[in-house]
Amino acid sequence: MTEDRPDPTRRFDPHQSEGESNLSARRRRWAEANLDETARAAVEADARHFLHQSVSTPCLTGIARAEGIWIEDVQGRRYMDFHGNNVHNIGYGHPRLIAAIKDQLDALPFAPRRFTNQPAIDLAQKLAAIAPGDLSKVLLTPGGSEAIEVALKLARAATGRFKTVSFWDSFHGAGFGAASVGGEQLFRSGAIGPLLAGGEHVASFTCYRCAYGYPERDGKPDLELCHMACAGYLRYVLEKEGDVAAVIAEPLRVVPYLPPPGYWRAVRAACDEFGALLIFDEIPTGLGRTGTMFACEHENVVPDILVLGKALGGGALPIAALIARPGLDVAGAYAIGHYTHEKNPVTARAALTTIAIIEDEGLVERAATLGERALARLQDMKARHPLIGDVRGRGLVLGVELVQDRATKAPANDAAEAVFYRALERGLSFKVTMGNVLTLTPPLVISEGDLMRGLDILEACIGEVG
Ligand SMILES: Cc1ncc(COP(=O)(O)O)c(C=O)c1O
Repeated sequence: MTEDRPDPTRRFDPHQSEGESNLSARRRRWAEANLDETARAAVEADARHFLHQSVSTPCLTGIARAEGIWIEDVQGRRYMDFHGNNVHNIGYGHPRLIAAIKDQLDALPFAPRRFTNQPAIDLAQKLAAIAPGDLSKVLLTPGGSEAIEVALKLARAATGRFKTVSFWDSFHGAGFGAASVGGEQLFRSGAIGPLLAGGEHVASFTCYRCAYGYPERDGKPDLELCHMACAGYLRYVLEKEGDVAAVIAEPLRVVPYLPPPGYWRAVRAACDEFGALLIFDEIPTGLGRTGTMFACEHENVVPDILVLGKALGGGALPIAALIARPGLDVAGAYAIGHYTHEKNPVTARAALTTIAIIEDEGLVERAATLGERALARLQDMKARHPLIGDVRGRGLVLGVELVQDRATKAPANDAAEAVFYRALERGLSFKVTMGNVLTLTPPLVISEGDLMRGLDILEACIGEVG
């Protein structure tokens, strides 16, 4: 049987769009130079016991502590965490969160399915209160990928259609449904397919290197020239297919890529025209990160379904949610998200407490203010370093795109990896996205001093590599 079936994993080398490669020569050299015996033992044990996969095992090193903006490895080295998988909006180990979780464990640690509980009800009510527009019907899931899958099922149930339109290069989770709407080889190609039928993809707004071939002006779209071809093409696909159930996308791509002004209003109108739902994946951008509670508020566009996760668990527990408009409560006869931990009172209490901390500590406004200052600092950096082709951001989602040459914009992937490992050596962790974008998403509780210190480290590393 196997003779007839070529091994797809051997024939296919997927594009490393997410994070740095865990198999690169530079990773090996970094480990040799930096890991002590304890750290090496942790990494080796991890590699022995876990299935290997991209962006995970083999791991960088072992983590022993996480507190505030810091992670500390097993050999006692501390890193400011400007990545944190975007779970750490309130910082790690927030005392109020830890106290609430402990209290909830004592009061009610679990509620079997078929039963409800007060923290879950309170959370659903709170999510409806903070969600934009009339979004108010909630479903909780253990993780973001599952919430995306529920949103897809709900869109099918509501429209009687199954096709989707989403972005190339996007990530929506590791499940089959989520990977089908995602647009990264790592999660969908080679050994992994076939995926769900009907998953159309379009190129998204990436104005610095527009996939539709239009030039930009200092990273911004020249709308008089391009007439937002990216939104126009999405509308075209909706029209040609005629029976798309949903457009699903991050309103602000966390790479980051910022939508041109008016992009989402145009897409919302096209969805309405052709009967498709609009699903916003705000799993990394929700809960204050972009300087508004949800990134779609910058666009003045309300989706039909909003999905959030990650930071909802306060950087401690896994929980995600979707919030739909009431008219979409149409699948009551089916089990669309019947997860064992659907209404876990402990994760629900963690989410409620996290939202309370974000509100009480003014973290949304804080992200807006600090984000502006950080972006100004990055622009300043760009003026000094030709290695930087573009800087962009909104709130505390910031990106530095490295290029070999500003004229050709050839991506400087090797330099990006070199900057990443140098930064780790100096106590700063972040993520490399799309091979050449340094993605910075620090906790919203960070002090301005620490934020600028992190950017100083980044600049020093860029200077050395450049
Ligand atoms: C935009 C986006 N959607 C979905 C997910 C999946 O969330 P989870 O890892 O909780 O399944 C992620 C996680 O990185 C994400 O960034």
